[in-house]
Formats: sequence, structure tokens, C-alpha cells
Amino acid sequence: MEDVKNHITQLQQAFTQELAETHSLEALEGIRISYLGRQGKIAALMVQLKHATLEEKRILGPLLNTLKAACESALLTKKKQLEELMQSEATQQERYFDVTANIPANQQGSLHIYTHLIEQLENIFISMGFTIVDGPELETDYYNFEALNIPADHPARDLHDTFWLSNPGFLLRTHTSTVQIRSMQTIKPPLALFSTGRCYRNEATDATHEFMFMQGECLLVDTHVSIANVLATAQTFLQRFFEKEDLTIRVRPGYFPFVEPGFEIDASCPFCTQGCSVCKRTRWIELLGAGLVHPHVLQSCSIDPEKYRGFAFGFGLERLAMIKYNITDIRLFHSSKLSFLTQF
Ligand code: DAH
Repeated sequence: MEDVKNHITQLQQAFTQELAETHSLEALEGIRISYLGRQGKIAALMVQLKHATLEEKRILGPLLNTLKAACESALLTKKKQLEELMQSEATQQERYFDVTANIPANQQGSLHIYTHLIEQLENIFISMGFTIVDGPELETDYYNFEALNIPADHPARDLHDTFWLSNPGFLLRTHTSTVQIRSMQTIKPPLALFSTGRCYRNEATDATHEFMFMQGECLLVDTHVSIANVLATAQTFLQRFFEKEDLTIRVRPGYFPFVEPGFEIDASCPFCTQGCSVCKRTRWIELLGAGLVHPHVLQSCSIDPEKYRGFAFGFGLERLAMIKYNITDIRLFHSSKLSFLTQF
């Protein structure tokens, strides 16, 4: 019995000491559970008491009950003290605050580089009198190939690694030249149109190739259109885009079934005169596919090729941006890399 009495005294002392060292409500709750919980130290003593004699129970029972009540009331007092302390600390903190504290700036979103590019391009073409048009990304064989003078057996189809849909005749457009047909079917010439949009090609991805990319397409149809018009338009556009008034262009023959003649337009390197890493030391940068609209294309849109002529050119948005902003990997455009995205 003396053992149990000693145990009670020790328990009381340990409890008082632990309580004194407690400075938080969480720790206080820990003490409550460890002493007064159902599996706690006092409950364990109560269990032991079951095996004691009646005489022992008469002495130890009240002792244990007193211990339990003392612990409960001490816990309650301590809890009140801690709550008051916390309350006064909170008030203190509100009263004294550091006006010079460095608060991290709010994370602010920025427009995506594609949004910036489209805005720049559209502004340039609108300023030259062009109208902005749009077309669907999900297209048919007719708009992507057939009406653009690329019939089913045409070898040029092999150059477009097409994503065909399981629905026969449907595909994801491989270029924005589709918009030429859609627009000419609904808008009567004279017309001057510009369009940007996503295109898809089923090819392996690397630093300069993506299976999804953006193109820009320019089309003008009128009665007296010549190569001089396409060259002047292309040069003005590129000068404004690269913000370089003395940018010049050169023309090389190029084959695209929907134009005749067809050519490729290079711009003089906007960054050097002697050759640099951007132009691969050639001083020229290949940028646009262009030409005079093929009579077959005009005919497929019920426009008389004897009366009207047109010019068209197309380009990749990413390529333009990669040169202008020195971006080395096309995959960044669709990445979620904030260090890249927040620059624009
Ligand atoms: N659609 C062509 C391509 O994706 C680019 C192009 C070339 C567009 C010549 C044109 C053009 O309008 O006249 O490669």
C-alpha cells in the first residue's frame, strides 16, 4: 500500500512540474491526455486499485480522487492563464507593427507570349489595311489540301505529316492557308485578310519542331496585283515586327502548290551586318513562304482568275519570336516555366 501511496505522491509532483514548464495549449492538452485520459496514468492507478483489499481501497480511493480533482482544477487554471497570455500577446502585436517590414511583392500574372505576338502582328496588318479573319483548327481534306491545289495523289501531301481523324476526310489543319479558301468563299474581292492560328503536324518534337505550332497567313486579292505588292507588304511587315527600318528582303524560288510563282522570302539579319550566330553567319534569315495565288485556288472559290489576282504569304509565329527574343527552344512556348513566361 505504501508503494501506491508513494506512486501517487510522485505522480502529483511530476504533474506539477510538467504543468509549470508548459507554455502552449497544445502541450497542455498533451499533459491532460497523459494524466487524465482514459489510458492515462491516473486511470492506470485506478485499475491497480481493483486488486487491493477493502481496507486499502478505503484509504487509497479518496487519495486518488483528490489527486484527480487537483489535476483537473490545476489544468483548468493553467489553461485560463495561457489563454489570457496569448490574448494579450496578440493585442500587443497588433499595437506594435513594423512599418518598414519587407513584404514580398504580390505574384502578378503576365500575358502569354502568344498573346503578345498575335497582338503585335494584328496591329501591323490592321495598320496596313488588312482585316483579321479566323478559321477552324479541325478541318477537312478539301480546305487543307484539295482546294489549295493539292489533290489526293500530290507529293506535297507527304510534306504535311497530317493528324487524320478517325472520321474519314477530317484532319487537324497542317497550315493556316485553309483560311484563304474559307475567306474567299464568303468575302468577295477586293479583299485583304490576315489570320493567325494553331496548326498541327505529326512529327517528332525537338528544339525547333513542335507537333502544335502557330502560323500567320496573309492574303490579298484585287484586280491589279503583282509580285511588287507582296514584296512591299512583306518587307513593311518585317520591318515593323523587328522594329528595324533598314531591314531588307531577298527572294528565292520556292514551291507551294497554291501559288504560282512561289518563292521564299528571307530578311536581312536584324542583329548584324557581317554575320552572327542568329543568321548562322549568312546575314539572311529564312522567314516567309509566299507567292501569287494559283488560278486553280481562285477558281475553287468561284473567283475569276482572268479578272482577279492575289498574293499570299505564310510564316511560323514561333520562328519569328525565337529570332526577335532570342528563344532557343520552341518547346518553351507550351511549357509552364515561369522564368520564361514572366519575361513577356
Ligand atoms: N502554308 C505554307 C506552309 O505551311 C506556308 C505558305 C507558303 C503560305 C506560301 C502561303 C504561301 O500563303 O503563299 O508551309
